[in-house]
Amino acid sequence: MAFNQLTSVDLDFFKSISGESYVHTSGDVMERCASDHTEDFVFLPDVVIQPGTVEEVSAIMKYCNQRLLPVTPRGAGTGLSGGALPIFKGVVLDMRRFNQILNIDKRNFQVTTEPGVITQVLQDTLKAEGLFYPPDPASKGSCFIGGNISENSGGPKAVKYGVVKDYVLNLEIVLPNGEVIWTGANVLKNSTGYNLTQLIVGSEGTLAVVTKIVLRLIPAVQNDITLLVPFRDSFQACEAVNAIFLAGITPSSLEFMERDALEWSMKYSNAGTIAIPEDIKAHLLIEVDGNHMEELYRDAEKIAELVQKYDIGEVLLADSSEQKAMLWALRRKVGEAVKSHSVYKEEDTVVPRAELPFLLKKVKELGYKFGFKSVCYGHAGDGNLHVNIVKADMSEQDWKEKLPVGIRELFEYVVSIGGTISGEHGIGLVQKPYIDIAFTATAIQLQKQIKQVFDPNGILNPGKIFL
Ligand code: LAC
Ligand code: ZN
Repeated sequence: MAFNQLTSVDLDFFKSISGESYVHTSGDVMERCASDHTEDFVFLPDVVIQPGTVEEVSAIMKYCNQRLLPVTPRGAGTGLSGGALPIFKGVVLDMRRFNQILNIDKRNFQVTTEPGVITQVLQDTLKAEGLFYPPDPASKGSCFIGGNISENSGGPKAVKYGVVKDYVLNLEIVLPNGEVIWTGANVLKNSTGYNLTQLIVGSEGTLAVVTKIVLRLIPAVQNDITLLVPFRDSFQACEAVNAIFLAGITPSSLEFMERDALEWSMKYSNAGTIAIPEDIKAHLLIEVDGNHMEELYRDAEKIAELVQKYDIGEVLLADSSEQKAMLWALRRKVGEAVKSHSVYKEEDTVVPRAELPFLLKKVKELGYKFGFKSVCYGHAGDGNLHVNIVKADMSEQDWKEKLPVGIRELFEYVVSIGGTISGEHGIGLVQKPYIDIAFTATAIQLQKQIKQVFDPNGILNPGKIFL
């Protein structure tokens, strides 16, 4: 990609648009915007701009498009596929000043928000109004709703309530040429033309910059109960997942954690500890929610009974808010705990739910074949397994050359059983070499043509998703 070098004239222009104090070429802001949560990557941009209005974003995009300067939009930088990394340098568009919830429309169960609002802040604000926006990525306490839109994030509640795409009604976006459009309408049904809204959701900042978001909401749910079930066999834990659904129960979360995942989180997070007997290999963390406690206890009992047919330890039923908070804090911190433990790579595999035990088996077989250690956890109820490959004592050469062959074999297996290579983290930079496994050449070509229509000069988040 032939981009131009940023000059002092460009910087003067950006300063004239956003103000000197929001244009950074050194210091903390630049350093922060050089990485996200993906592995240990660092790519310093030439400049970070922190625009405050849609007009500023429009002027910056129009200018960069004419000048052929790469632009990488950025939310909170909690992404796990390298989507926010400015790999061609140029401009990072740091959207953190877009931090206002603009309108809570209680009558219509909708909210209009800016993209730089922290997801949990949005959720808590809505909860106080009796409203519920369910998608809850593990990083909900720090990630931005705009980043969630870009990656089509999921989280534990996706199993019952769906992922981000299921809540997005309409988006205000700035195209690479600076034009500002709304993608749809603030309605619950829409058969009007192509679905531009859903095209932008999950497009990883490669098609447009999102500046306003309209989400549909549901009434707040009053109660929940959490169960922690220890298994002596990890594969049986995965088998139990489907058995719960086959018994007619839809938990609001159904998470799988291998022993190391939970143990490392306890060590790393200070969120609390639970005793794990020596022979326990994995846990299922299960939540049921609803408005009537009697029903929840009935479901919880049914689950506790049903898992007895597996080789399990003692089921922990958490109904106090402290206990629940501790268990979920431990679960949410697993990703960070793994990262702090060792150099690692995370593969965000997803398969049809009933195939989950086969996926886990394959991961372990490949670990044996290619000499890697893996720690697996994730949204088992969605068939979404985060396979964390830790470097441990793998040689530098094997890590760089042998491991990608193993990962390719894993993804090929995933696709062969009906799955795909990312459930919720996106392709970004790190899964890009494997995209050919997920799509035929024709399907990739179609997507490249869509990119061309939105961004003919290829300035927006270049080098992501497709090679
Ligand atoms: C989680 C993130 C890594 O599930 O997706 O913890
Ligand atoms: Zn996850």
